[in-house]
Amino acid sequence: MKAPPTLAEKEEKERLAAPPAPPPARPTPKRQVLLCPGPVNTSPHVHAALGGPDICHREPEFSHLLQQIRVKLVHALVFDARYRAVLINGSGTAALEAAVLSSTDPGQKLLVINNGVYGSRIAQLARIHQIPLVEIRSPLTERLDLSRVAAALKRDSRIGTVAVVHHETSTGMLNPVEEVAALAKKFRRRLLIDAISSIGGEKLELPKLNAGICVGSAGKCLHGAPGLSFVLLSQEEAARVSKMKPKSLYLDLGLHLKAQERGELPFTPAVPLVAALGAALDDLAREGVIGRTARYRERAIFLRQGFKKMGLKFLLEEKLLSNTLTALWLPKGKAYEPIHSSLKKAGFIIYAGQSELKGKILRVAHMGQLLQADLKEFLRALKEVTAG
Ligand SMILES: Cc1ncc(COP(=O)(O)O)c(C=O)c1O
Repeated sequence: MKAPPTLAEKEEKERLAAPPAPPPARPTPKRQVLLCPGPVNTSPHVHAALGGPDICHREPEFSHLLQQIRVKLVHALVFDARYRAVLINGSGTAALEAAVLSSTDPGQKLLVINNGVYGSRIAQLARIHQIPLVEIRSPLTERLDLSRVAAALKRDSRIGTVAVVHHETSTGMLNPVEEVAALAKKFRRRLLIDAISSIGGEKLELPKLNAGICVGSAGKCLHGAPGLSFVLLSQEEAARVSKMKPKSLYLDLGLHLKAQERGELPFTPAVPLVAALGAALDDLAREGVIGRTARYRERAIFLRQGFKKMGLKFLLEEKLLSNTLTALWLPKGKAYEPIHSSLKKAGFIIYAGQSELKGKILRVAHMGQLLQADLKEFLRALKEVTAG
């Protein structure tokens, strides 16, 4: 009788029966200069960390990495050791959803300032999770009217939390977060800031703003890899959130916080992305947030001077613009797609307008590991494609 096949024979048979290897991936251009608001170009340190050793998240080496990163986030971004950082697997929206879910106590409402796609997203999250909502819709291109926020807070004592997007990435507007914070403080309400596209690249003093909950992302101004996000919590908010009844399993901020305080994660994390964030935070520590913010400002000034020379028009008044992104009206008679594809051929990735600005504007961000030469070359290429 023939002996049953050995495990090695079985594996060999399976290997031979395996489907043919997929065709080689489409070659990507040598280096794309990412002028989109994330993902961003990253440093060789971040690339090296992404390709680092395979490690298990249940081992002490991961626990050590996790705690280091949480401390580095607070150290670099908050300067107040009483704050707590909570890492969340997933893009910025994952951390935002976790934060919104934990933002109010039973019976309280969430006031959302909505002047763009991302303010609208917070309101959408509140609706999905049936969190009582007060929405202040403000025109996309005008500075927020703070008297409306004050009036809403005065009128409605059930509003427990005010949510504002720091940098409204859909237009490039930097919202007046300090003034909003002052109102939240005056009316003794909690403050939730979506700083996903600003933290690390704009001035943001959370303790001074009395900001209890702040949401950030690894893959924008922090220069980490995309797909990992975090929430920064004040001491008071950390204590409150830890005691909350869960409203989600995967996105329960209290669950994540409590596990991370023990050096653990409740679910399997994206280990390479965590390692990449560690390397990105080391890069940031060398430069400092103040240094990075100044560098972003210089890039903004340089690019905006170039845009003006070309006769391109800004979507917003200049005084409303962030450090990190400029939205430009499409030049008369030009469509977005040909501009995008010509720039892509030249090695530059820009971004389209969203929602009602789709087909009307283009957006140029300058987050990430970029060189001055990249920006110069980009302006040259943009001039060529928008001329005539
Ligand atoms: C201000 C802001 N909030 C939320 C998000 C959503 O983040 P993600 O696309 O990483 O989920 C973005 C993305 O660009 C953003 O800029």
